[in-house]
Order: sequence, then C-alpha cells, then structure tokens
Amino acid sequence: MILDVVLIPYHRNIIELYPIHVGYYCKNKRFAILIYNIRNMKKIFTLILGLTTLLSSQISKADEGMWIPALLTDNYAEMQRLGLVLSPEQIYDINKSSMKDAIVRLGSGFCTGEIISSQGLILTNHHCGYSAIQKLSTTTANHLKNGFWAKTKAAELSAGFSVSFLVKIEDITDDILAGVTDENRAKMIAEHSSEVRKTLSDSGAYDVDIKEMFSGNKYYAYVYETFGDVRLVGTPPESVGKYGGDTDNWMWPRHTGDFSMFRVYASRDNKATKTYSEDNIPYTPKHHLPVSMKGVDKGDFAMIWGFPGSTDRYLSSYGVKNATEIDQPARVKIRRAKLDVYEKYQKKDEAVDLMYAAKHAQVANYWKYFMGQTRGLKRLDIEGKKRAEEAAFQAWVNSGDKLRKDKFGDVLTMYKDAYDVYDSKKLAETYWMEAIYGIEFTKYGFGFGRLASMYAMLSSEKDKTKKAEIQSQIDGMIGRLKESTEGNFKDYYAPIDQEVMVAMLDFYMNDLSADLRPAAFNEMIAKFKGNTQAMAACIFDKSILVNKDRAMNFLNNPNPKKLKKDQGVKFSAIMLDFYLNDLQAVFAEADLKRATADRLYKAALFQMHPNKAFAPDANSSMRFTYGQVLDYSPGDAMQYKHYTTMKGVMEKYQPGDDEFDLPANYLDVAKNQNYGDYAKPGEDLRICFLTNNDITGGNSGSPVINGNGELIGLAFDGNWEAMSGDIAFEPDLQRTISVDIRYVLWCIDKLAGAKHIVDEMTLAR
Ligand code: ARG
Repeated sequence: MILDVVLIPYHRNIIELYPIHVGYYCKNKRFAILIYNIRNMKKIFTLILGLTTLLSSQISKADEGMWIPALLTDNYAEMQRLGLVLSPEQIYDINKSSMKDAIVRLGSGFCTGEIISSQGLILTNHHCGYSAIQKLSTTTANHLKNGFWAKTKAAELSAGFSVSFLVKIEDITDDILAGVTDENRAKMIAEHSSEVRKTLSDSGAYDVDIKEMFSGNKYYAYVYETFGDVRLVGTPPESVGKYGGDTDNWMWPRHTGDFSMFRVYASRDNKATKTYSEDNIPYTPKHHLPVSMKGVDKGDFAMIWGFPGSTDRYLSSYGVKNATEIDQPARVKIRRAKLDVYEKYQKKDEAVDLMYAAKHAQVANYWKYFMGQTRGLKRLDIEGKKRAEEAAFQAWVNSGDKLRKDKFGDVLTMYKDAYDVYDSKKLAETYWMEAIYGIEFTKYGFGFGRLASMYAMLSSEKDKTKKAEIQSQIDGMIGRLKESTEGNFKDYYAPIDQEVMVAMLDFYMNDLSADLRPAAFNEMIAKFKGNTQAMAACIFDKSILVNKDRAMNFLNNPNPKKLKKDQGVKFSAIMLDFYLNDLQAVFAEADLKRATADRLYKAALFQMHPNKAFAPDANSSMRFTYGQVLDYSPGDAMQYKHYTTMKGVMEKYQPGDDEFDLPANYLDVAKNQNYGDYAKPGEDLRICFLTNNDITGGNSGSPVINGNGELIGLAFDGNWEAMSGDIAFEPDLQRTISVDIRYVLWCIDKLAGAKHIVDEMTLAR
C-alpha cells in the first residue's frame, strides 16, 4: 500500500475528493492532513491541525483574491509580513466587537459603507449616495448640485435605503450538500437552504444570505442584522463628488472627492428598526474605524473590506469570446444611444437634468466599463490565455486514471455545447436586456400585462368561487400597481422615453434577424409598416403607461376593454412573455450544462494545484483584499505615481464645463492652502491614491484600512488599463483608486465648514 500525505487548506474543495468525512471534521479547523491510499484514493487517516499560520505563506499571496473573512487566518501570515499589526480576533470575531462590525452593506449590496463615529456615522462614496441625494433634491434645494451638510442631527434627511451589519459567517457546505446527487441537486439545495435560513434567522431577527462559492463546491451562510433608518448627513457638491465625470471615470490619474455621509438610526434601546421613525436615535455601533491622519506612502500595507458584487475569474475561453464578440459591443452601442437621448434633454432643462442624473450615471458607468473591458480582454489576449489553461486542464485529465477521466472528461465539451446555444441566441438576450428593458415604460407595463390576462381569465371563468378568487387577485394587483405608480413617475420624462423607444426599436429591427424577436412583436410592428416612430407615437399618444394621470385614472376606475386596447401594455406583455417563455426556456438547458461544467472545472483546478489558494468569485458577500499602496506603469515608457494632489485638481479645472468645473468657493479655499493637519508640512494636499487591492463593483465606498485598523481612504474605482480585471486579474496593471481620507476631511471641514462632523470622528495621529 502506498501512502501519501497531502496538506489541504480548509477552504479548498475537500468535499470533492472525500465526499463524506473531511469537510465535516474540518468545519472549525484550518487544515486537515489527509493520509490516503493513493491507488484507490481511499482515505485511511485524518489528522486535524489547529494552527498552521506558518504554512499559510506557501498558499496565499497579496493582490488577487477577494477572501472570505471567516478564513482570515489562511492569509494572516502574509498580511502580517506586509505590515498588518491587528490580531485576527481584532479584525473578525463573532463573539466580541471587532473591525468587521464597522463595515456595512448598503441595501442588498449596491455599495459598501463604514462606520466612522460612535454615533453611527457612515462614510461611503458620492456615487453610492448619488441616487438618494438626487431623490432628496429639487431645483430649488438642489443638494446634488450644491452639496448639503446637516447642521444638526434633526436636519438629517431620510435616505430611503437600509444598511446591514454582518453578525457571522458559517460554512454550511455539509448541510447544503448532504445527500445531493446530480439528479436531485437543485431541489435538495433549495430545501436545505430554507432549513438553514430558518435555523440561523433567529425567528426573523436576522437576514440569512446563503452564498454558493466556487460554483457550488462550497456554501456559506452570511447572517446580517438590517437597519432600515438611514439618513443623509452630508455630501459635497457634485462637481467635487463626481469631479472629472465620465471622462475621468475608470481612469487614473484621478482627482475626485467621491464621498458622501449618512447615519444609521436605531430604536431608543439601540435596536434595529425596519423603517424610519421620528423617535429613533443615532445608533451606537459595536465598533467604528479610527481615521488616520498619518497619510500613506508607497509600500504601506492596505486592506479593503466590503461587498464586491460579481466577478467571473474562472470564465472559460468560450465565455470570453462570447463577451467580446457578441455581448459587450452591443451593450456599448445601445447604451451610447440611450445616453445621447438623455443628454439632449438634460442639457435643455435643469429639472430634467436632475430627474435623469442617476439614470444617466448608471447607464454611463457600465457603458464605459464594457468598452474598457472588451478592449482590455483583447489587448491582454485573455481568450488565448484561457484556452491555454483549458489545454493544460485537458492534458491533466488525459494523464489521469479512469476516475478522473470519467469525472472531468466532458467538461470542455459541455462548455462548447452551452456556448453554441449562447452564441446563437445571445444577441436576442442582450438586446432584450439593454434595448427593450431600456425603454422605461416596458418594465412598468409588466404588471398591467398580467392584469390584462387576469381579466381575460375572469371573463372566461364560469365557476363562482374561482371567479371570486381571480377577482381578489386582480384587486391585489391593482393595489400594488397603485403603490408603485408614484415612484415610477418620480423621475420619468415621457419625451425622453419616446425618443429612446425609437432609437431602441431601430436597433432591434436593424441589428436582429426576425427569428431573434418575438413573433407577436414582428406582427405588431408590421401593422405600423415597420415605422418605429409611428409605433412609438401611437403608444405615447394614448397608453396609460407613459403618463401618471392616465395611469391613476385607469387604476381608480379599471376598465378591461381599455387595457386590452392599450398598445403600450400589449408591447410590454409581448416582451415579458418572450423573455420568460422563449429566451429563458432556450437558455435553461445551456445554463445547467455551464453550471455543471463550472463546478467540475473548479473542483479539478483544486486538485491540479493543491498548494494554491483559490479565492471564490465575488457574489455580494463580505470579503477582504489586502496588498500595498503602489504605483504602476500603464504602458511602455510611462510611469504613474501612486497619488494625486491639489495641483492636479487645478490643472484639470475648466470653468463652466460639465465635468471639470468646481464650486464657487473651492478656488478661494484651495488658494489659501490652508490644509491644516490634512497635509504634511510643506506638502500639497493629497487627493487620491492607488493600491494593488482586488476589488470590483459593490466594493464602492469600502474602507481602505492600514495595518493598525485605521481608515486611510475610501475605495471608489479601478483603472482603465485593467478593465478586464473582473475576468482576469493582472497583478502588474490592476489598481484600486481611493480618495485619500485627508481630502475627505478637508472637504468637510474647510470647504463645507462642517467641522462638527470631523469632531465626531476618532482621529489617529
Ligand atoms: N467607476 C466607478 C465604479 O463603478 C464609479 C465612478 C462614479 N463616477 C463617475 N464619474 N461616474 O465603481
């Protein structure tokens, strides 16, 4: 019998190799030593090691990796080597207060925030608060344009989103996968998930978010406590918070004061409340981050904690090809056309400009993102690199025993089969998502479409009890539609939507073959002789979906005949039906194949590289990334510094420009060079800096933290040269862009004169 000893870090996919025991034994331990018979892969002995930080340095490294906080010790030695001083317990402890208690999820993960005072003060990005700030603004009190600072707590404004604190993370892989087979997989996992949710939610006190990691090789439960009363404390004017606009977005060198501030409120006994209440008081947090006044230098340790939304680092070469050749170019083209229409009307009217500010920002951010990502993927030949990795994988499979070949032999074929389907139909989906869904009334119309089919059911139903049932469903639907109507029209400008509709339908007609569009739509547009303008005009002249009064009149006095005749409702219903019954149905089988291939491919990678630490893709769960303050070379003969200064703000300044103007008082205040403690003696004020941390969308607003657990900056962007980063991390190129915390303080204190807010913080000198 041949014996071998393998060291497997706990978070690796142990389950794949040893389906029953090891995962269980390892539950609360860091590593297992597995001793097994190498010929038949039967495990004969398991030895658990408690603490092996010594070995961690072999398996983890800085830069790439959005790591799971509960597995902090896997990376701890390397973090210490780079300059971390805090102990693991000071960072993540589920029994005592620790640093993680100062990190909050905004909403269900649209951004990250951090608590920076004992009175529940939240710091996040300006672009994270943007939509809330816009909603609180009017043309007469335009906080978005002019900035806002509450002089007292009573003047803080209800923000309309919640924040969640992480209570704990549990590895629930064994519970979720117990008894799971290929056949019962989806059903069993759903059942087990609801059991876990029930157990961990503490009768509804907590939200339990179950996260699949490594495509279903591992499962974690994230338990959160959610606070529903959050208020706006302050924001700089947009010209500071979004300085550089779309021109500078996703780029370095950067000079943006991308921050805004909120406060979390709790009941009088410091408990979470579901909603805003006048009786609530500022929350006393378990921990708040001290704010460092010491500044950052090249090489300094830096870690970022937050809620990265999604990455696709294990995407196959087929996936990269599909993205660069089919999906992304279409997204870029469609988004640009939408933005052109928005901008045309925004320029004409301040009220419209304000209404569409957040919608514009949302479309524009990923317009540029996809442009940069396609470019980056091609320049760095990511498809070629992935193909080489897949070839190495296949060679490894071929060199293995029957077990290995049986298990992994079909993976690449599965990818190919799935992508044959995607490639043939992807455009239909992309155009649906970007163009059809981009016509605003389409979404609002879905409920009305449902209502129309309910009325049809009602009229053909003879049975009295069933009729009454349908009627009560109708009443419920009407109630929900009434509730959503105010919000739908809050920032809606029909002339924009009409012009967007024409532009979108032109693409839809010209770029897609008829078989990629719903047959019912083809018939509908034929009635307008293919004239998209005529079709849009007809809808906008009469439909209840594009005018609030018409919508409310209808809902207060519903008339099934009117609904049936409404061309907007008809259009919307056709599109929803196509999405659910055509697109989803076609993709379902391919999705399953791809998901299975993903799971197996990752399991194989773990076996191929037993000494490598793999980080799971981002999925809106709390993660950390660590590294250093670092410069980079964007191209041949070029070197970028790791920080920017006030000098650069002035160099970019263009009075009257949309993107590079500054508030009226900015120049005076800056000219004084009255930087106080916010700059080192004799130095210019620092604005932004770079680190090699690994972040993505959702991390926006995340704290950048030094080795002592103090806040040094606020992460807000990535750099143009590494826009492929969500698919392939490039250590030499990829950087996180953060605003220096001292610039944030200067903006609050000197620019806004809101020193009382700075005084709330714990400054570390
Ligand atoms: N690119 C940043 C992100 O996705 C958002 C930057 C917002 N600023 C702007 N000019 N649009 O996190």
